[in-house]
Amino acid sequence: MKLAILGGGGFRVPLVYGALLGDRGAGRVTRVVLYDVDAGRLSAIARVLAEQAAGVGGAPEVTVTTDLDDALRGADFVFSAIRVGGLEGRAADERIALEEGVLGQETVGAGGIAYGLRTVPVAVGIARRMAAVAPDAWVINFTNPAGLVTEAMSHHLGDRVIGICDSPVGLGRRVARALGADPEEAGIDYVGLNHLGWLRGLYVGGRDQLPRLLADSAALGSFEEGRLFGADWLRSLGAIPNEYLHYYYYNREAMAAEREAKQTRGAFLRDQQTGFYEAVARGVGSALEAWERTRAEREATYMAENREAAGAGERAESDLEPGGYERVALALMRAIARDERATLILNVRNRTALSALDADAVVEVPCLVDANGAHPVAVTPLAGHAAGLVCAVKAVEREILAAADSGSREAAVKAFALHPLVDSVGVARRLLTAYAGAHPGLAYLRR
Ligand code: G6P
Ligand code: MN
Repeated sequence: MKLAILGGGGFRVPLVYGALLGDRGAGRVTRVVLYDVDAGRLSAIARVLAEQAAGVGGAPEVTVTTDLDDALRGADFVFSAIRVGGLEGRAADERIALEEGVLGQETVGAGGIAYGLRTVPVAVGIARRMAAVAPDAWVINFTNPAGLVTEAMSHHLGDRVIGICDSPVGLGRRVARALGADPEEAGIDYVGLNHLGWLRGLYVGGRDQLPRLLADSAALGSFEEGRLFGADWLRSLGAIPNEYLHYYYYNREAMAAEREAKQTRGAFLRDQQTGFYEAVARGVGSALEAWERTRAEREATYMAENREAAGAGERAESDLEPGGYERVALALMRAIARDERATLILNVRNRTALSALDADAVVEVPCLVDANGAHPVAVTPLAGHAAGLVCAVKAVEREILAAADSGSREAAVKAFALHPLVDSVGVARRLLTAYAGAHPGLAYLRR
């Protein structure tokens, strides 16, 4: 099996490779090709992987390339985890939104729209090369905004592109533990869009255990989402929202904490990772140890402003361990390659799973996965408030796709203006002007 990793110089690649090293099963990945536009980052990550593989028998062979077609040719699976504009671009997304007084998160609100506008055309370019060079490969899309990017690629690859995210699994695991249940045994009723979903039930032995959790304030205070949203609000919702919904339900508090912060998340990660890649290039000491230190610091500070706004304290030890992101990817590959049936929460075309949306809308829902791909399972309808948000944000995504397709500035302004977290059409217009000025990748918006 050949796996191509696009964004192969990316910081989280060692997590994926680590998961592959632990896979001893038949039909496992034996060859990994890392593709990236930045040769320096590629060689740094290749050094980390070489240290990971040292002494491991049967470790997948690793090669690197800056030629996309070379990477794709002969691949069985393609992981796409690129960051168009880099962390410098992310920092600009955040800063420009904050200057306009609106949220500038990586995937949420104005920041997510700016990121989507510059990522979709690049993802579509990759999908076109895939269709030409590796039409039988499966694409696992990690590239954020993951739901939107998966939908853009699905226009060219149909159901051979599947989007993944670790946040629903992490939520399911935390809720199961808070209930004293085994996460592996629990059936999770979670639906929505990527970074915009709700856990509405958790089944053990055919019984929904969520009502028991909602009735137990101490248990609700024992995990991340319980502390972020507060027991009363969770009871009002009758569901546990994805942590990214903190930006919606507590927008004012989250914004205030961002304004107070010394640096935005993107700027922090940019500085941190620049330090890491430079240290590896200088060649002092172990690249793997430098990577591990950097990773630990990154994990510990994840969503720090939101936790601070909520008075939620530090992240739990169990949330700092690796295992989310790469485990979903590996489970998905295995289920397809070995026809090992699995139920996973994935980003796929809706068909009829969510009645509020059309068949081609990419949604994040539980799917049955086998050698024929990921099949969304029908779910009970979303509550009215959730359907409202999901439809509003999907309408925004559709404007981004239209803008990327046509180069229309009008569509881009509509994307910003229709977002529930952008409070004026005037703000939307100024955001587009500022983003277009900051990002060369938006030069295509000319019409
Ligand atoms: C979660 C999300 C990802 C996101 C990641 C890193 O795992 O599901 O989509 O990329 O967090 O966030 P960070 O702010 O550390 O880059
Ligand atoms: Mn995600």
